[in-house]
Amino acid sequence: MPRKRVIGNWKMNGTIASNARLLREIKDDMAIAALTIDAAVCVPFLHVSETQRILTGTALKWGVQDISAFREGAYTGEISADMVAEFGATYAIVGHSERRSHHAEALTTVGAKALRAIEAGITPVVCVGETLREREDGAARETVETQLLAVLDSLPADQMHSLVLAYEPVWAIGTGRSASPRQAQEMHEFLRRLLRTRSESLADTTILYGGSVKPAAAADLFAQNDIDGALVGGASLEAGPFLDIIRLAANHAGA
Ligand code: PGA
Repeated sequence: MPRKRVIGNWKMNGTIASNARLLREIKDDMAIAALTIDAAVCVPFLHVSETQRILTGTALKWGVQDISAFREGAYTGEISADMVAEFGATYAIVGHSERRSHHAEALTTVGAKALRAIEAGITPVVCVGETLREREDGAARETVETQLLAVLDSLPADQMHSLVLAYEPVWAIGTGRSASPRQAQEMHEFLRRLLRTRSESLADTTILYGGSVKPAAAADLFAQNDIDGALVGGASLEAGPFLDIIRLAANHAGA
């Protein structure tokens, strides 16, 4: 059973001052829960330095929301995994649906990003998820399978265990409409089966649920067999709800 994890995805929000305040509030309050779960925040690139300064030596880890698919060189505006690693980042989200849709990220690009992260010693949090249309058309499983296999096919067999997977149905992100625990569990079970088919050693991969996770719904989600934690957007922008979600995950740690 993987250790429970809660990862915040701040997206493009906050200022250096407001985010520093938020980090202090979270880290000061999570000492006990941190004994049993991994918690982290994925911050805007420009805030990574300040985040490292505030969180070094605390139980709260940090990461970024994207990285370049390239190692280094003439890629104007890009930020490499090695650059992020220099700031002590643990995680990089890759393949978030907002990047897949707003930045036309191809399946192979997401795979390359996951590989760059692993090469730099950063854990990629690989997001997969279907749109409402795909779910209504009965194509949800096919969509997430295609997205997951594209990433696995990009990684050497002995590196695949380094990723964290996040199931984030696009229709649940930022909409206030979370998947039901049953809907989420069904997809997580399917994803775990796919991972196991690739290699028995992947059966223990951490699979997070993401999409309008709020404290009120978190306990039921965390009680599901194949839900190992959450990738939290909106509710990670305030210390109170984010800490509540961390505590609820800690209650289910090892469950
Ligand atoms: P949300 O975002 O919790 O605001 O729905 C989740 C995500 O996009 O990772």
